[in-house]
Amino acid sequence: MATRSKAKYQQFAIFIAYYSFCPCLILLKSGLVYLPQSTLMIELAPSILSADFARLAEEVQAALAGGATLLHVDVMDGHFVPNITIGPPVVQSLRKVTGVPFDVHLMIENPDEYIPAFADAGADWISVHQEACIHLHRTLEHIISRGLKAGVVINPATPVDTLSEVLEMVDHVLVMSVNPGFGGQKFIPASLRKVRALAEMRNDRNLGFRIEIDGGITTETIADSVRAGVEILVAGSAVFGKGEARVNVEQLLKTAREAVLLKV
Ligand code: DX5
Ligand code: ZN
Repeated sequence: MATRSKAKYQQFAIFIAYYSFCPCLILLKSGLVYLPQSTLMIELAPSILSADFARLAEEVQAALAGGATLLHVDVMDGHFVPNITIGPPVVQSLRKVTGVPFDVHLMIENPDEYIPAFADAGADWISVHQEACIHLHRTLEHIISRGLKAGVVINPATPVDTLSEVLEMVDHVLVMSVNPGFGGQKFIPASLRKVRALAEMRNDRNLGFRIEIDGGITTETIADSVRAGVEILVAGSAVFGKGEARVNVEQLLKTAREAVLLKV
């Protein structure tokens, strides 16, 4: 008899646990419950570099349908990096397709000369390489003066300390986790040390810049990146390389958000 009532009690406990858990899951999935701020701050920026340029608008819309909230536009000049990509006209055309912020990553020499053209074309964020700017402070001021969000980028060989004097003025710091120039390269794990160092500097100095990572982001590397402190994840080949862009974005964001939830 005692065993029977114990079993009944256990059944009752399982019933209560199950029916309290299910609504939580439903609410979580529907986005109606509070999630930690850090989870909400995670954003995926598909890099159009790996998209099919003949179907660019379609590719972009598919990635946005998967939950991407901004678009990463890689601009290369064949001098600063050994590749050539696109310029302001493509940004202008894409502007007709979507209203999401355009995160324009300039991998070019003399970026000051091209900031006005990208601003006019519809860029919202412009980031410049520390290595390409002799007068980095002036270049960042130039971007800000156009009413855009200014970002600074560092190559894998550039230490975070080189940014010390501009961290107050930037909206985001972009850590390259591959050497810039091409999509589909292998993630450099040592980049995460730099992400952690930046997060620490931000904390120590009570600053507000966001940390972005670019290069080799896949479902294998995304979790470690967010655990290190990355909030904006650029992904090119993992979004447009194979399969469906919408599904790929969903999967990447899911992996990233789960990693944040496990972190808190
Ligand atoms: C590389 C570019 C990246 C590139 C990333 O120089 O800055 O944005 O598109 O591509 P994946 O995600 O394939 O490494
Ligand atoms: Zn990029």
